[in-house]
Amino acid sequence: MNERFMLSAPQTGRFRRKLLEWFRANKRSLPWRKQKDWYPIYLAEIILQQTTVEQGLPYYKAFIGRFPAIDDLAGASQQDVLKLWQGLGYYARARNMHKAAGILVREYHGRFPRDYEQALKLPGIGPYTAAAILSQAYNRVLAVVDGNVSRVITRLLALEDDIRRTDTQKRIQHVADLLISRKYPGDFNEAMMELGALVCTPRAPRCGACPIRFYCRARAQGKTAHIPYKSPPSPKLKQYHLVMIRERDSRLLLQQRSEDGLLAGMWGFPVRAVSEKELKNPEELKEIAFKRALLKKISSPMRHVYSHIDLKYRVLWLREPKESARDKEKGCWLQRHELESYPIHKAHLKALEWFDKQSTS
Ligand code: ADE
Repeated sequence: MNERFMLSAPQTGRFRRKLLEWFRANKRSLPWRKQKDWYPIYLAEIILQQTTVEQGLPYYKAFIGRFPAIDDLAGASQQDVLKLWQGLGYYARARNMHKAAGILVREYHGRFPRDYEQALKLPGIGPYTAAAILSQAYNRVLAVVDGNVSRVITRLLALEDDIRRTDTQKRIQHVADLLISRKYPGDFNEAMMELGALVCTPRAPRCGACPIRFYCRARAQGKTAHIPYKSPPSPKLKQYHLVMIRERDSRLLLQQRSEDGLLAGMWGFPVRAVSEKELKNPEELKEIAFKRALLKKISSPMRHVYSHIDLKYRVLWLREPKESARDKEKGCWLQRHELESYPIHKAHLKALEWFDKQSTS
């Protein structure tokens, strides 16, 4: 690849030393950094996909506490794993992590493969996660590129190309492959991520505190505010839902979502899709047939934004006669306290919070 950014060998050596020195002096004390055991690193790297350290840390602690070894994770039920993951989103990560744990125990004697290609075959392990785990746990020279690293590298190069583009990403990966320390690849990867998280931040980067500022072209050219450039995302799909909290005989109906698609395996309340107009107009909602149910209350509109969907919804609290046949419904009729042990996705947790406020006031 014709790379404009080429440091000479001695410059590359100095760059690595500066970065690693900074990392050793400034890194956050995070629990998976205390040793080189693959399992805590594996847990952390799965949890930290699409998640900041701040958000992910309580989940990491919960998982390592509950499942201290790979056998514990592999032996758990999917429901227990999803329950612990509740609130973190992107639930496919939890399902894949659980599946991969089973494979690691059955086929790899409870160890993580050292081979990159083998690692990539595990559910939920892509090039980024494989590189992160193998470099930190086994000192394999594999460069990690995540959002933080992309920002550091595009600024270093003053690369103004759209970082959504595959060719830009390839270029960034190529530069990371050139730069990564051959001796301390795991620390180098973490140092790049840490620099992106603490110093080379999206807004107001702390260039004065940056150990590699003298190599940074965006800083020299006064362009840090414009780099990286990311084209606007395609608009999200809009969805409008009625979320029905059906109450019978002091029990609520909870249903599990199918094993594929968004929120697979998670639990929630029955839902009815409506139009934007219907959602806006509660009077129209009342016209929608609820047969014999008594509509106790309707919430104001709520919103939950997923990666590709912008969901607006209202919650309906419906009280139904005792004698209606319970068993025809898909799902479980549960007492309020029993819901606590089910993994419920975030939009419906918010619905449940609303319901709790109504039913106690
Ligand atoms: N983000 C993902 N993995 C990380 C790590 N090991 N350290 C800091 N941030 C991260």
